[in-house]
Amino acid sequence: MTRIVYVNGAYKRYAEAAVHVEDRGFQFADAIYEVIEILDGRLVDATRHLARLDRSLRELGIPRPMSDVALLQVIDQVIRRNRVRDGVVYIQVTRGAGPRDFALPPAGTLPTLVILARAQRKGWSAAQAKTGIAVKTIPDNRWARCDIKTVMLLPAVLAKDEAHRSGAKEAWFVDPNGNVTEGASSNAWIVTSDGTLVTHPLDHHVLPGVTRATVMDVAKAEGLKIEERRFHKDEAIRAKEAFITSATNIVMPVVQIDGAPVGDGRPGPLARQLRLRFHHVAEFSAG
Ligand code: PDD
Repeated sequence: MTRIVYVNGAYKRYAEAAVHVEDRGFQFADAIYEVIEILDGRLVDATRHLARLDRSLRELGIPRPMSDVALLQVIDQVIRRNRVRDGVVYIQVTRGAGPRDFALPPAGTLPTLVILARAQRKGWSAAQAKTGIAVKTIPDNRWARCDIKTVMLLPAVLAKDEAHRSGAKEAWFVDPNGNVTEGASSNAWIVTSDGTLVTHPLDHHVLPGVTRATVMDVAKAEGLKIEERRFHKDEAIRAKEAFITSATNIVMPVVQIDGAPVGDGRPGPLARQLRLRFHHVAEFSAG
């Protein structure tokens, strides 16, 4: 249970934690966020997450609310005050509050910063990884800067809802050529018949996933071949294996795409191997 939330300089009780009704995050989705895994009371890959947070802010010209050192101290406080050992930290920064206006607010407007921590049952994703998940492909109708981690998540919310209604856990966005870009809240991967890992290249169509980057480190350490290239949804259905990566799922096998089984319809060995090695390679904060 989340008990304490950091909002703009104060640690508030969950029920009382709030931002202004004219916050630009609320009115314009003029905001960015990060989700970081907490494992055994320590942050996983914090350096990469904070670097991406910084990049998102710079791309949108939102001022930094505080230094990384200060941010890590507040995150640590939020984790402690909520007594979270395993779960996630959610960080959101908006361009601040003011009378609704499309024009950017005057210089000096303070960004809004919210940080909350939430416990999750340890091992839930390991249990899910034993059976894997189904995904449903959905046309990618998001904007052309998906590399920025904004809170403009309505297309992802609706795609996931459509996926859920068909019995799938995740939606895979496909571009007009039928190529898979990424998941609604994850990066998408396949394994070819010769054991090569394939994922969409980093460009404006996908989020540069932190888990994606660390999985690449794992794959290199394990001597696996990686290709960053587009892949068609039909190639994915015919692939040997498929999986998704994200801070919450780590490496999650995909066993079904649009109702068709991937491989023999069971989690594949490479996804399992990458998942097992992941936390040996990821960076852990001092805890
Ligand atoms: N989502 N692509 C999209 C569109 C995402 O929303 C996410 C993460 C990822 C994976 O990124 P990372 O490996 O850094 O978590 C890829 C988070 C978990 C969320 O919105 O909850």
